[in-house]
Amino acid sequence: MTPASKFVELNKALHERNLFDCGVEELNTFLHKFSVRHREAGISLTMVLPTQESTAEICAFYTLSHTEIKRQTLPQSMAKRLPRYPVPVLLLAQLAVHKTAQGLGLGKIALIRALRHCHEINIHLPSFAVVVDVLDDGVQHFYTQYGFQVLDTDNGRIRLFLSMKAVGQLFSGSE
Ligand SMILES: CC(C)(COP(=O)(O)OP(=O)(O)OC[C@H]1O[C@@H](n2cnc3c(N)ncnc32)[C@H](O)[C@@H]1OP(=O)(O)O)[C@@H](O)C(=O)NCCC(=O)NCCS
Repeated sequence: MTPASKFVELNKALHERNLFDCGVEELNTFLHKFSVRHREAGISLTMVLPTQESTAEICAFYTLSHTEIKRQTLPQSMAKRLPRYPVPVLLLAQLAVHKTAQGLGLGKIALIRALRHCHEINIHLPSFAVVVDVLDDGVQHFYTQYGFQVLDTDNGRIRLFLSMKAVGQLFSGSE
């Protein structure tokens, strides 16, 4: 499985969503059953990285959506600059790599692409941060090594965040 060079928006008529397997049932089910439905409902956007061998086969995907966080969950130094109502953020709702392509740097590429996408959205409509919910410590480490910090824990999930200011710094000078 060799990745193509670009992520493209998921196209239900073209991409074989049901063949994707990252080894985590919840993420597979989202791609197989809900990604198109949620796009059509206007609540999230899924981008996929096809393989070089076939434009239909998916090596990796990510999904972006909107959400909000409580101001009090942020570090005091950030919270004190914000108004006393829920803070709008972008949600990196899903990110996964096909299990036969894991461990080769594709997760990192997908994360950088997703963050660049958030940066582009933020230019048009600002939000405070990017957040992601993780289920276990291993995956938490995948994100914290790129600067994500723990925000809070909810329903056994750890919510991490990276301020949009930090995201902007990653791409400053590259526009
Ligand atoms: C987590 C996932 C996206 C990582 O993708 P990947 O292609 O395997 O990761 P990469 O090869 O790009 O690794 C990038 C770095 O993260 C580290 N890393 C990757 N997966 C990790 C994990 N589960 N735990 C800890 N570190 C991890 C790698 O060691 C590497 O570090 P390095 O740059 O210092 O060598 C992928 O394993 C996956 O899809 N897992 C199943 C779905 C999932 O859990 N998604 C996250 C939802 S919150």
